[in-house]
Amino acid sequence: MKVVAGKSSPLLAKRIAEKLGCELAKTTYKVFPDGELYVRVERVDEAVVVQSLNSNDDLVQLMLIFDALGNAEITAVVPYMGYARQDREFNEGEAVSVRAIARTIESYADRVFTVNIHSEKAKSYFRKLVEVDAMPLIGEHYRGRDVVMISPDLGSLKRVETASKHAGCEFDYLEKVRISAEKVEIKPKSLNVKGRDVVIVDDIISTGGTIVEATKVLKSLGAKSVECACVHAVLAGDALNKLFNAGVSKVIATDTVEKSVSVVSVAEMLAKAISESRSSS
Ligand code: R5P
Repeated sequence: MKVVAGKSSPLLAKRIAEKLGCELAKTTYKVFPDGELYVRVERVDEAVVVQSLNSNDDLVQLMLIFDALGNAEITAVVPYMGYARQDREFNEGEAVSVRAIARTIESYADRVFTVNIHSEKAKSYFRKLVEVDAMPLIGEHYRGRDVVMISPDLGSLKRVETASKHAGCEFDYLEKVRISAEKVEIKPKSLNVKGRDVVIVDDIISTGGTIVEATKVLKSLGAKSVECACVHAVLAGDALNKLFNAGVSKVIATDTVEKSVSVVSVAEMLAKAISESRSSS
């Protein structure tokens, strides 16, 4: 068995390979002048392919890796399952994007692993998916610090509850009303953050809009400092600048999306889940 590192997850793939005690397969990735991708992968009998879906090219590359592996037994590790926020037909005629992604991945892979997929609905389109929860790791990161963890909305409350349990701190949530795809309005629920060091915890930071609004609310309520933590640091465009400009003092994330803020590794957790599933099949 070898680990195939997709272009979007080189560090995490290396870490998983180390935890599994196996080598990385040799790969060649190129881009043709017209933008098409080229993939060549060393032939192996069994492959653990690690590739987050943080761009359209990541998805195309993943399909090409699968194809290059021929008849190998394939474990697909998609640490960040992009497209999962479009998990239903919000307006008539829309594609259910994550359903299309699920069908594509599962037509090649024998088993699939991901970290904190956006919703139960998104998860329901997969038949072979094992989801692991990175919230305990985020909680451990803050253990021993006197912080209060805040979910920016009700949807993330369960996740934040788990993180806070592992951090040994209090938790609460803000009510969020989405005005449009670009704009959200956040109202406090039952917070007392005056003079407290606050950590906003979410699954994804994409444009940063949710965290910026939450930070404004928390600062206006007298929070002493605001940090934020997420599983998937998508950080589209200048999202990180937006967060710092809004007064966020620190951002941390896991390495499901490899960015400068990705200081918590999910490698061990994924390697353990992969080993368990191999020994039970
Ligand atoms: C929403 O349901 C998610 O949990 C995140 O809050 C959201 O995806 C973050 O997106 P953005 O950073 O663009 O506000």
